[in-house]
Amino acid sequence: MTRSLRHLVSVSDFSATEIAQLMQTALRIKSMLAVPSDKHRLRQLLKNSVGSVVFYESSTRTRFSFGIALALLGMQAVHSEAAGVFSSAIKGESIEDTIKVLAGYSGDVIILRHPETGSAARAAAVSTVPIINAGDGTGEHPTQALLDLFTILEARKNRNPGTITLVGDLKNGRTVHSLVELVVRLSATKLRFASHVRLVSPPELGLPAVLGNKLRESGIECSQYCRLERAILEDSDVVYTTRVQKERGSKVTDGELLAYQLTPAHVQTLPETAIIMHPLPRNAELPEAIDKNHRARYFEQAHNGVPVRMAILLFLLHPLGLSVLE
Ligand code: NCD
Repeated sequence: MTRSLRHLVSVSDFSATEIAQLMQTALRIKSMLAVPSDKHRLRQLLKNSVGSVVFYESSTRTRFSFGIALALLGMQAVHSEAAGVFSSAIKGESIEDTIKVLAGYSGDVIILRHPETGSAARAAAVSTVPIINAGDGTGEHPTQALLDLFTILEARKNRNPGTITLVGDLKNGRTVHSLVELVVRLSATKLRFASHVRLVSPPELGLPAVLGNKLRESGIECSQYCRLERAILEDSDVVYTTRVQKERGSKVTDGELLAYQLTPAHVQTLPETAIIMHPLPRNAELPEAIDKNHRARYFEQAHNGVPVRMAILLFLLHPLGLSVLE
């Protein structure tokens, strides 16, 4: 039995039911990873599969957690870091041609990070194996949003959907774009995890209007601010901060940075049960002084990348899909 071809270009590629199953499987995998015999069992699940990890942009978390996820499922991986320099892209080859060639090599999945928005969709259009978008320019970063959701659900357990405050470079941050798409995708389902989204950014780094409109159209309350204030934080359940994407042309003055930097004083105004997230890497917007606060979840969030990406690989590649772990 082979699995029908599916890609993960955008969080909208998965239905709410599939996302719910993915979350359950990731939770199961997370606990299995702590038990040696279960860890051994996981290693057998995709031991005949091979993945190509093709990154045209720098990465620490996404690249390593995918590499580890592949290994923990018993897969072999072929990596190309700095693919813009070390692949034939430097000789002028299009992403379509590269993907057509890689997909024909009898591997099973291509995990792609590329600086151009829309590149993952272009790759998926010509690929005969699943494409996993590991970040396409300022477009989407769906595996990050799924691990963000996992972190939120794990921390907030069965609490009602709450207020998520997104802070920083909302214009160019693809993790924010995918998270907002996920809020919209799940807004009318049992997995609804946000009822109110607050957007805090310098005016020129605001969330693209199309995403703000999608939030409003799906019945999510949405409000915009250009500085972090006590009143915003007092009832935030999740504060998700992000860095300025300088490599994508975003600029911020020192004054603007101060206006959305999360300080220890800000943290004290958050509810006790609130959590602080960041896709990392961080700059000055998230001082290290906050790391020891019980609300800080960003390292755990990064670590959740392994079980969540393992679940995604099983979903896309295993003949039985996620039911292999039922
Ligand atoms: C992000 C990315 O590359 O989009 N990092 C990540 O994958 N965890 C965020 C960023 O670069 O700021």
